[in-house]
Amino acid sequence: MEFIDVIKSRKSIRTYSDKEVEDERIECILEYARLAPSWANKQCWHFIVVKNKATIKALSKASIINRWLKNVPVIIVACGDPKSSGISNGIEYYTVDVAIAMEHIILAATDIGLGSCWIGGFDEKKVKNILGVPENIRVITLTPLGYPAHKKGVGERATKILIRSKKRKSLDEIVHYERWKV
Ligand SMILES: Cc1cc2nc3c(=O)[nH]c(=O)nc-3n(C[C@H](O)[C@H](O)[C@H](O)COP(=O)(O)O)c2cc1C
Repeated sequence: MEFIDVIKSRKSIRTYSDKEVEDERIECILEYARLAPSWANKQCWHFIVVKNKATIKALSKASIINRWLKNVPVIIVACGDPKSSGISNGIEYYTVDVAIAMEHIILAATDIGLGSCWIGGFDEKKVKNILGVPENIRVITLTPLGYPAHKKGVGERATKILIRSKKRKSLDEIVHYERWKV
């Protein structure tokens, strides 16, 4: 796909077909995460690939608003080691590092026809327990991966109440030239 088409066609997918996701595709996606930029190139990230159905079910229970995750074929959980990244202006960059890598994952998935969805709504403690993540490591985000189903399901219906609109703000509302405009 052309890069611009990847950007334009990416959208949050919350209903997946039962079709298995090939390991080579998952590996290919993870390779793009590996190439992401990071604070002083510290690469503070870790990714946990979950395909086990019982574990996926447990993860879905660790997120009240994302129970629909129970039906997805794969979940990638993105973690960061705060000690392996840096702080500047009070900003802890491990979250940024992991977010950039996760966006690589999401765009790479889109490029090869796989759906994904940024997930920030989960109980970190529960997720860490389920996956055996060490105390010093933070779970930043996760995403399902899979082939999008042709029709919308419970995931879309459940999140429609929270997400009222898919419309983006105009450039005029978000871009400032030379100085902050009032
Ligand atoms: C940091 C972050 C956290 C998110 N958390 C969730 C979530 O917990 N559940 C969910 O269904 N979508 C979640 N989303 C997806 C957004 O709702 C979605 O990106 C937004 O509504 C725009 O829709 P689109 O991705 O289809 O363009 C999250 C997105 C981001 C960037």
